[in-house]
Amino acid sequence: MIHLALLGLGTVGQGVYEIVNSVKDTSFRGKSIAIKKILERDTNKLTLLGVPHEQIAGSIDDIVHDPDINVVISVLGGMEPEYTFIKEALSNGKHVVTSNKAIVSSHLEELLSLAIANDVTILFEASVGGGIPIISSLIETLKINEISSIHGILNGTTNYILTRMKNEKRSFEEVLKEAQRLGFAEANPSADIDGYDIMRKICILASIAFKTPVKEEDVHLRTLSNVLLDDLQMATYYGYELKYIGKAVMENGTYTISVTPTLIPKTSVISNVNEEYNIIVIDGSIIGELCFMGKGAGKDATANAVVSDVLKVITSDIANDDIQLDSKAVSSGLEGIYNEYYIRICVDDYKEFSKAVNLIAEIVKRNKLVYSYGKLFVLTEKIPAQTMKTLYEKLQRVAQNVFYARLENNLL
Ligand code: HSE
Repeated sequence: MIHLALLGLGTVGQGVYEIVNSVKDTSFRGKSIAIKKILERDTNKLTLLGVPHEQIAGSIDDIVHDPDINVVISVLGGMEPEYTFIKEALSNGKHVVTSNKAIVSSHLEELLSLAIANDVTILFEASVGGGIPIISSLIETLKINEISSIHGILNGTTNYILTRMKNEKRSFEEVLKEAQRLGFAEANPSADIDGYDIMRKICILASIAFKTPVKEEDVHLRTLSNVLLDDLQMATYYGYELKYIGKAVMENGTYTISVTPTLIPKTSVISNVNEEYNIIVIDGSIIGELCFMGKGAGKDATANAVVSDVLKVITSDIANDDIQLDSKAVSSGLEGIYNEYYIRICVDDYKEFSKAVNLIAEIVKRNKLVYSYGKLFVLTEKIPAQTMKTLYEKLQRVAQNVFYARLENNLL
């Protein structure tokens, strides 16, 4: 019997509890699993699930110093105390499975080293893409291939918002509340709508794929929170869909990494991934493009990924040195990046209109501008990302609500 400890009975923790109890009599290569201790401060959650008294841990010490416990499942959320708990578990020779992307994204290198030093494994499949087995697939692909790019839809909440806004002509705020009710959104929705959730996920994937500890500050991050229904409708008018995309590209030892609202041709695969579904495309040197799609958020999808990791640990399907971070790659920043852009500016009066047009006319021909009901719409030629950033800052000084998105014409 493999004894597990569960830290946290939130949405994911409850899902894990239910799955483990439903498979507890099953044998996995001769081993079965059972939860021995649960650490959860909220007694209501313990009562609601009917957790037996003997399973309730008083503190993390009850878990990390229990010699029977082999695997600690850590699904608390936030940075502390979970970061300390994970390090204590690893230092005391426990395998760790976590869904905490903030911790993995910021401390991956340190946690992998700590696991190796203590001859245990840390796995974190559920930190990216909910139920999609992307991390184990990356590890497998890297055994034979080099990976030159990863991109996709990595946030269920914002994909759900964009889908429902467009299909039901509803406002951003209204659909966000619905996504929160459905359990897709993070506790602080800014993590979803301002891109921090995607930033962490793309950092984790890029670190594994490019074998280098990619830092969050290297990510060119842009919020989705000021998108309007008009933007989705204009994207359609131009032949595109608007999606919130995480993208990491490696070229000659330099990586570029971004989280940006993006216009993608309607006919591409990614454009047709809707609701809370995620899609991740990787480009391998031998296998070519591989595409993974599935539910990227929600209790069952995420809990499924956690329990799969537990099974990988107990059956030794993944070794603690399968992820290597020894490459010396560096970040490119915005240097050398060119894109076409879609820009939308809300203008209140003629003065704002004329200032905005003059600023845009410095880089775009005037006949490319469309004006409709207080809004200016523009598609630019290919321009440096830095030029677009500067233009955006200037436009924000003359108009209230400015939004821009990159155009990507060659994504799968
Ligand atoms: N809030 C996240 C999402 C949950 O919407 O994708 C899964 O990481």
